[in-house]
Formats: sequence, structure tokens, C-alpha cells
Amino acid sequence: MARMKLGVLISGRGSNLQALIEAAKKEDYPAEVVLVISNRHNAKGLDHARSAGIETLVIDHNDFESRQAFDDAVHAGLVDAGVELVCLAGFMRLLDPEFVARWHNRMLNIHPSLLPAYRGLRTHERAIEDGVRFTGCTVHFVRPEMDAGPIVMQAVVPVRPTDTAVSLGRRVLDYEHRVYVESVRLVASGHVRVSGSRVTGKDLVIPENGLISPLQS
Ligand code: GRF
Repeated sequence: MARMKLGVLISGRGSNLQALIEAAKKEDYPAEVVLVISNRHNAKGLDHARSAGIETLVIDHNDFESRQAFDDAVHAGLVDAGVELVCLAGFMRLLDPEFVARWHNRMLNIHPSLLPAYRGLRTHERAIEDGVRFTGCTVHFVRPEMDAGPIVMQAVVPVRPTDTAVSLGRRVLDYEHRVYVESVRLVASGHVRVSGSRVTGKDLVIPENGLISPLQS
């Protein structure tokens, strides 16, 4: 079976990228990373791609006069590499609606909260400030509005009373890696469809039970 070709867009650390690279080392994983694009020269994630022998492109937004010109360069890079599914993984640039339309239902994002709660930045600080008992992470198809679009998969992570944004972020990140790898598996193996604002699939296994926090004895 031909594997789906992924283009991953990053701006920094690249731990989600690394999770996808690791997953694709298994032959039965239905996707492979063929291109990594960073808008920053010094993104650490570029090293992960290079050590795995994956093509990289640095497209620095400062070198372009308009967002449109930058987006066109990113689009051209993806098309040249034969990318079929774009994965945003810590990519810190907003993409123009036209770019989003070109990759409609062919572009995923990972976000460190249970969307639609806590769109934007500082998700863990805000969750702790609000005293929520649960947070988590979400993989969704990208729409022009920031951190919005049909949800593929979510993971729920309890917030501990002693958590800092760093400790909570570390635990959520662990789930991000798992959820991104599994979401790409679902999409690449054709097990899900987007209908309206929802992602459906007949073989999706949904957990039976909810979680209560704090637990009652
Ligand atoms: C992750 O928390 C992701 O959810 C958010 O940006 C961060 C990227 O981390 N969109 P990494 O670069 O994948 O390590």
C-alpha cells in the first residue's frame, strides 16, 4: 500500500514532528514525512528531520513582502514534494484563508487544549488560572479561524493542584504525540470522513466511561 505523504510545518522544537517520524519508521504506518518546512532557520525540529534524512525547507516569512507571497512559497514547496496531507506542528504563523482552502480537509493541526476551550497561546497557564479539573489536547482539520475546525481526536489530562504550566504542559505533550500519531493513522488509512463540522467514521472506538476529578472514595 502506498503511504500518504506528509508535509510537516514547524517553527520550533519539533517534538510532535519527531513523534510522526518515529511512527513512520514502522512499515505498517500508513503515512511518511516527506518534507519539513520551517519559517525559522534555527528551529530545533529541523535537526530531527535532517537526522532522519527528510527533505527540509526554510521559508522565512521575513523574506517576503506579504503573507500571500509567503503562503505561495510554502504551497509550492508542498506541491513540489508531492505532499498529500499537511501537519501543522507548532507552526507559529497564521495561514491565509486562500492557503487553508487549497488544503481543505487535507491539513491537520495539534493544539494543547480541549478545543473549543483555550484557543490561542498560554493554554496551560489559563487552564490553571481558571481552576479547571481537566485539560488536554486536540487534533483537528484546519479552517481559516485560528484553532478551529472538525475534531479528529482529543485526549483528556487531569490538572493536579500542584501543577505549573510547565509540569502540566509536559504531561499534555506526551498525549499530543500519541494523539497526533493516531490521528494521522486514522486519516491516512481512510477511516474518517469530514461531514460539516464533524469528523465521522464507522469503526471509531469511543470510550464508554467519563472521568470524575477529584475522585470520590
Ligand atoms: C505543541 O504544544 C503544539 O500543541 C502547539 O505547539 C507546540 C509544539 O511543540 N501547537 P513541538 O514543536 O511539536 O515540540
